[in-house]
Formats: sequence, structure tokens, C-alpha cells
Amino acid sequence: MPEVVVLGCGIVGLYTTYCLINDAGVSPKNITVMAKYMPGDQSINYTSPWAGGNFSCITPNDKETLALDKFTYTNLATIQKKLGGPSCGLDMYPSTELWDEYPGDEKILSLKSYIKDFKVIPKSKLPEGVEFGINLTTWDFNCPYFLANFKKYFEGLGVKFIQTELTHISQAYKPDTKVVFNCTGIGAFSLSGVKDDKVYPTRGQVVVIKAPHIKQNKMRWGSDYATYIIPRPFSNDELVLGGFLQKDNWTADTFETQTADIIKRTTELLPEILDRPLEIIRVAAGLRPSRHGGPRIEVEHIEDKLLVHNYGASGYGYQAGFGMSHKAVALYTKAKRQQSGKL
Ligand SMILES: Cc1cc2nc3c(=O)[nH]c(=O)nc-3n(C[C@H](O)[C@H](O)[C@H](O)COP(=O)(O)OP(=O)(O)OC[C@H]3O[C@@H](n4cnc5c(N)ncnc54)[C@H](O)[C@@H]3O)c2cc1C
Ligand SMILES: *[C@@H]1O[C@H](CO)[C@@H](O)[C@H](O)[C@H]1NC(C)=O
Ligand SMILES: *[C@@H]1O[C@H](CO)[C@@H](O)[C@H](O)[C@H]1NC(C)=O
Ligand SMILES: *[C@@H]1O[C@H](CO)[C@@H](O)[C@H](O)[C@H]1NC(C)=O
Ligand SMILES: *[C@@H]1O[C@H](CO)[C@@H](O)[C@H](O)[C@H]1NC(C)=O
Ligand SMILES: *[C@@H]1O[C@H](CO)[C@@H](O)[C@H](O)[C@H]1NC(C)=O
Ligand SMILES: *[C@@H]1O[C@H](CO)[C@@H](O)[C@H](O)[C@H]1NC(C)=O
Repeated sequence: MPEVVVLGCGIVGLYTTYCLINDAGVSPKNITVMAKYMPGDQSINYTSPWAGGNFSCITPNDKETLALDKFTYTNLATIQKKLGGPSCGLDMYPSTELWDEYPGDEKILSLKSYIKDFKVIPKSKLPEGVEFGINLTTWDFNCPYFLANFKKYFEGLGVKFIQTELTHISQAYKPDTKVVFNCTGIGAFSLSGVKDDKVYPTRGQVVVIKAPHIKQNKMRWGSDYATYIIPRPFSNDELVLGGFLQKDNWTADTFETQTADIIKRTTELLPEILDRPLEIIRVAAGLRPSRHGGPRIEVEHIEDKLLVHNYGASGYGYQAGFGMSHKAVALYTKAKRQQSGKL
């Protein structure tokens, strides 16, 4: 019987499982991951497979988020190694990020303190309309493939995976369950028990093309748009082009007009894309699990059991989620210690 239940099998649930084993020393055999959708599934209510999967500088500038990013960036190599190296679908690539407005000292000083090959691009070399730009080496995920490999790795260690939909949070608790980690992403909006109406979707659309000739990231951030180009490691030369950030839009449909706009913006940003005839593999939409006030990383006591919330990763579950999970598991360890102190 499980001592620990992780509800949700997106990137946040999987990072949480990793931290339970590696930070808190929980035996993998005592962990059960429950989720309606598992790696390999596709649904508008399962965000993780749809991400571009880059580590980029788009996240908010507050200290908390900057620290989560830094933790993830500097610790991902340990996951990559445990999963057998870059072929797990996680690797580093060169990247360029351009801003129409200076992102602020706080962000830039933080990035500079840990990002590999961080270099400010001289103003004279920036395209028109761009105020600030950097070159860097960043992490890229092949999201669907990485999720599947992460799960396989945990199965090898003895973690159990149960595919099931819960209609109420209480269903996650079995007699021997001591704690449930709530990693339900956008699902946190609708699951009864503790519906969180601060959760809302930020819809994105991406165009995936075949582009063996592009091996770099390039992004441009404006005040009302985000354009990005992200290669997928070990993917048969897939390149992800984006994007859109549409608040409160729940639709799973994709739109021709958005596809055309994405292709226009990305080929302007990196004209080399068109050195080869454009070959679209797929167009997809996803819902970033956003939350007013930022992600919720918090412990609740429910009688003698614990409930640890870890959701609301918005557009940065891959790049901040490891830091979020590390924090959530540390909160759990502390709460458990306090509990046993009382007994
Ligand atoms: C177009 C797009 C591009 C993106 N690009 C990036 C990027 O480049 N870098 C980055 O860091 N992030 C990116 N993101 C954001 C990233 O995808 C999300 O932050 C991340 O996937 C959230 O993961 P999660 O585990 O919280 O949620 P999810 O992946 O949605 O997982 C939720 C899990 O909870 C389960 N669940 C929910 N409710 C229930 C229930 N009632 N019963 C059972 N199971 C339940 C689901 O089945 C699922 O397994 C992007 C997102 C989009 C849409
Ligand atoms: C699993 O959890 C139970 C309950 O806390 C504990 O008694 C047992 O020792 C744990 N098993 C392992 C292998 O850690
Ligand atoms: C996704 O979740 C929403 C909110 O719970 C629900 O209304 C919708 O039917 C779900 N869509 C699918 C395809 O499951
Ligand atoms: C690149 O990363 C940012 C933040 O991590 C994310 O919001 C954006 O959607 C990503 N791009 C793609 C193509 O996923
Ligand atoms: C840095 O970015 C600029 C602008 O995109 C690009 O021209 C240059 O090749 C990049 N330099 C490196 C070392 O990647
Ligand atoms: C996770 O949190 C959300 C929001 O509070 C809530 O709707 C959901 O019931 C919680 N799930 C679990 C298993 O605690
Ligand atoms: C969602 O976005 C699409 C594409 O921009 C738009 O056509 C649609 O009206 C939006 N839906 C809502 C409810 O805003």
C-alpha cells in the first residue's frame, strides 16, 4: 500500500516523484502515481506533452520564480545522467533571446550568475526594435519522449502508476496513505474537494516542423507577443515554432490564422528556417496551468494526513517545476517531522 500518492503525471508530478526519492529518501515502492492521463496520452487537459520545452527567460522577475528557475537549470544534469544521458530527450543547445524592452537588472543579474555561456549581445548587432539580447546555452526537452522515459525510469525503480480519474480529492487516500501530492495542473480548476478558482488557462498554439538544419533556439519577447523557435532533442529533427499566450481561452481547436502568424514571425526571426521547404508535422494547442498569485506550493493538514499542493506552473513547468517540486517535498519533510514530534 502506498505511503505517498502523487496525483498527476505531468512534468510536475514526475519531478515531485523524483524529489520524493532523492531528497526525502522515500522508497520508490512506497510511491504510487495516479492520473487520468499518462505519458503517451493526448488531451487538452494534459498540458505537458504540448510544451515547446525550453528553458527560457520568459518567467516573471520575482525572487521566488528566479530561484525556482535557477534550481532547475543547475540540477537538471543529475536527472539527465540518471536517465542515461541526452538520448532521454533532454539536452543543451545554444540559444538567443531578444527583448523589445529591457527585462530588468534583477532578472539579468540572476541569469548571469548561473547560465552557461551567458553573453550580452552588443547593441549594434541587435535587430531593429530590439532593446536587449543575450546568447546562452540552454536546456531543451523533447517533451512527450522525455515524459515517457522519466516514467519508465521510475517503473524500473518500483514506483506504481495507476491510470484513474478522481472526482474528489478524498479518493486519492487509501488506508495506508500518509500524504497526497496535488500535481493536477489545469485539473486543479475543476476537481471537487478544494476547487481553486485562481487557476486559469493560458492557451498556446505551436507548429511543429521538420528542420534538420536548425540546431539553435531563438526567441523574441514583446509586450504583447512571444515568438520562439525550439529544437527537440532526439526527435527526428523536429523544430517547435510558437507562439501564443491567450489568457482564459479553453479551446483545444487550432487556428489557421494563428499557424500563419507563427510561421510569419518565426521565419522573420530566423530566416534560415526557409533554407529547406517548410514541412509541417503537426499543429497543436495546449493550456498552460496559470494561477493568479503564482504557483501553489503549500501543505495542508487533513486530520492525520497531509496534502501537499504543487500546481499552477503556468508556462514554465519544465523550467521551474524541478525547483517547485524540491520545495514541495521539503515542506512535506518538515511537516512530517513536526507530526511525529507531536505523537
Ligand atoms: C504551447 C505551450 C508551450 C509551453 N512551453 C513550455 C516551455 O518551453 N518550457 C516550460 O517550462 N513550460 C512550457 N509550457 C508549460 C508547461 O507545459 C506546463 O507548465 C506543464 O506542462 C504543467 O505541468 P503539470 O504537471 O502541472 O500539468 P499537466 O501536464 O497538465 O499534468 C496534470 C496531471 O494531472 C492529472 N489530473 C488532473 N486532474 C485529475 C483528476 N481529477 N484525476 C486524475 N488525474 C488528474 C492529469 O491527468 C495529468 O496527468 C508550455 C505550455 C504550452 C501549452
Ligand atoms: C513504506 O512505508 C511504510 C509506512 O510508512 C513503512 O513502514 C515501510 O517501511 C516503507 N517501506 C519501505 C521499503 O521503505
Ligand atoms: C477538459 O476539462 C474541462 C474542465 O474540467 C472540461 O469541461 C472538458 O470537457 C475537458 N475536456 C476534455 C477533452 O476532456
Ligand atoms: C519557451 O519557454 C517559455 C517559458 O519556459 C514558454 O512559456 C514558451 O511557451 C516556450 N516555448 C515553447 C515553444 O514551448
Ligand atoms: C548570438 O546571437 C546573435 C543574434 O541572434 C547571433 O547572430 C550570433 O550568432 C549568436 N552568437 C553565438 C555565439 O551563438
Ligand atoms: C488539488 O488542488 C485543487 C485546488 O485546490 C483542488 O481542486 C483539488 O481537489 C486538489 N486535489 C487533491 C488531490 O488534493
Ligand atoms: C479563443 O481563441 C480563438 C483564436 O484566437 C478565438 O477565435 C476564440 O474566439 C477564443 N475563444 C474565447 C472564448 O475567447
